[in-house]
Amino acid sequence: MNEITKEDLFIFHKLDDLMYWGILKIFMEKIQAHNGCKNMTEFGINTGSGSNKFLDVNPTCNYYGYDSWEGTNASAEAIARKALKKYPNATIFKQRTDILKQLPTKMDFVYVDGGHSTEDCLNDLELAKNNITEKGVIIVHDYFFHCVFKATEDWYQKNKGEFDREQINLHRGWMIFWRKEK
Ligand SMILES: C[S@@+](CC[C@H](N)C(=O)[O-])C[C@H]1O[C@@H](n2cnc3c(N)ncnc32)[C@H](O)[C@@H]1O
Repeated sequence: MNEITKEDLFIFHKLDDLMYWGILKIFMEKIQAHNGCKNMTEFGINTGSGSNKFLDVNPTCNYYGYDSWEGTNASAEAIARKALKKYPNATIFKQRTDILKQLPTKMDFVYVDGGHSTEDCLNDLELAKNNITEKGVIIVHDYFFHCVFKATEDWYQKNKGEFDREQINLHRGWMIFWRKEK
């Protein structure tokens, strides 16, 4: 049997990263065309690889990122802070999202990629719903993770009157919610 080599793994990681970048770029452009995307928030910054990509596409967007950095790699927070330094309109909040009631402003785009338990994901979807603009968009990453899938489906059953949705079966799954226009 041919074993997977270190070189194979290197290529898989590169392809994975390219796919993540590609999807984020496409959606950032779509959301910008849809509602102008002046303000966005990300639940779960980690090392800031996603946030950097959002801001590369739309550098004038006001970005509000939340992460508790509990139990992550010790250097993740420092890497994120360094990476986001070049964007003066990026604000980082070191806190859990389950204690939040309100965001600093209404958001055109919320990226849900924080806690992956059912409770955390449901909390973040509710927070997103209550803090988006009339043409706001919510994206759930890692939709294929069991708890994220369950939370997203339960939440959608209660909120389908308010959102159209699209599913992308790439890079651990994405669910995109477009707020229905009134
Ligand atoms: C999958 S990573 C985020 C990846 C990032 N969005 C990206 O694109 O590179 C999940 C992050 O969520 C954070 N997190 C987990 N539970 C959280 C909570 N309840 N409140 C805030 N952040 C949380 C973790 O510390 C971790 O850094």
